[in-house]
Amino acid sequence: MSYNLLKGKKGIIFGALDENSIAWKTAERVHQEGGTFVLTNAPVALRMGQINALAEKTGSQVIPADATNQEDLENLVAQATEILGGKLDFVLHSIGMSINVRKGKHYTDENYAFTAKGWDISALSFHRVLQSLYKADAMNEWGSIVALTYMAAQRTFPDYNDMADNKAYLESIARSFGYFFGKEKKVRVNTISQSPTATTAGSGVKGFDGFISYADQMSPLGNATAQDCADYTVSLFSDLTKKVTMQNLFHDGGFSNTGVSQEVIEKFS
Ligand SMILES: NC(=O)c1ccc[n+]([C@@H]2O[C@H](COP(=O)([O-])OP(=O)(O)OC[C@H]3O[C@@H](n4cnc5c(N)ncnc54)[C@H](O)[C@@H]3O)[C@@H](O)[C@H]2O)c1
Repeated sequence: MSYNLLKGKKGIIFGALDENSIAWKTAERVHQEGGTFVLTNAPVALRMGQINALAEKTGSQVIPADATNQEDLENLVAQATEILGGKLDFVLHSIGMSINVRKGKHYTDENYAFTAKGWDISALSFHRVLQSLYKADAMNEWGSIVALTYMAAQRTFPDYNDMADNKAYLESIARSFGYFFGKEKKVRVNTISQSPTATTAGSGVKGFDGFISYADQMSPLGNATAQDCADYTVSLFSDLTKKVTMQNLFHDGGFSNTGVSQEVIEKFS
């Protein structure tokens, strides 16, 4: 169903790697709601992924940008505003990767070069994106910027490794930059704390199958899917949520406020 919630709105969507990606589903949903956008991902991901199919489907252009490279981001913002014919109304930051997780390094045995790189990609990149948009004055008033996060920023999930720390930093950036973006440009900045979701990044977490089933059984509404996340993001990009900013918004079927569920109790009875 489409409500034309984003008719006439323009933006940038980071992080669509394949059709499982949360950013992929969001791009499709934004397109359905009448929004136009530029797609972007790291050059290496563009070579490996299937983003051109998404671009064709949504009538979008793809601009490569490594989210850890300031020059790439400045170029992306300049090109996006040119292609789309003016300032932007929405931006989705859907980027994450832990090198320690990838290389099987335990949290108690981190390789700090990996830690720094993972933090640069997963957390500092959000500041870079915000700063590039802010300095170029590229956002329209009442625009909306969203990044994706996970509840390991508040509670410990042992196998989430250093991504937990990266997510805590990311959420803090949304609050800190959200203040200035709100004051100076009337732009909102939020993070969505999403349920575990079967994507390339998600499945990298050790024991992901058990983890995702546990979350599902603990959530009164069940896990939020990537599609659900796309819907929620559209609402945050729309004019219906203009005064929501500097928030970490749980989108998890109620998981974050559930102590225990009947299903989980029964497993131990
Ligand atoms: N899947 C989950 O369980 C889950 C849960 C909560 C939050 N999230 C978050 O959602 C976001 C999207 O992840 P996803 O689950 O859709 O997985 P995904 O693997 O499809 O997306 C991650 C994206 O990050 C991109 N990326 C990596 N390095 C980059 C760089 N240097 N520059 C630009 N882009 C780069 C990848 O190319 C990829 O497109 C991430 O922030 C992730 O942490 C995921």
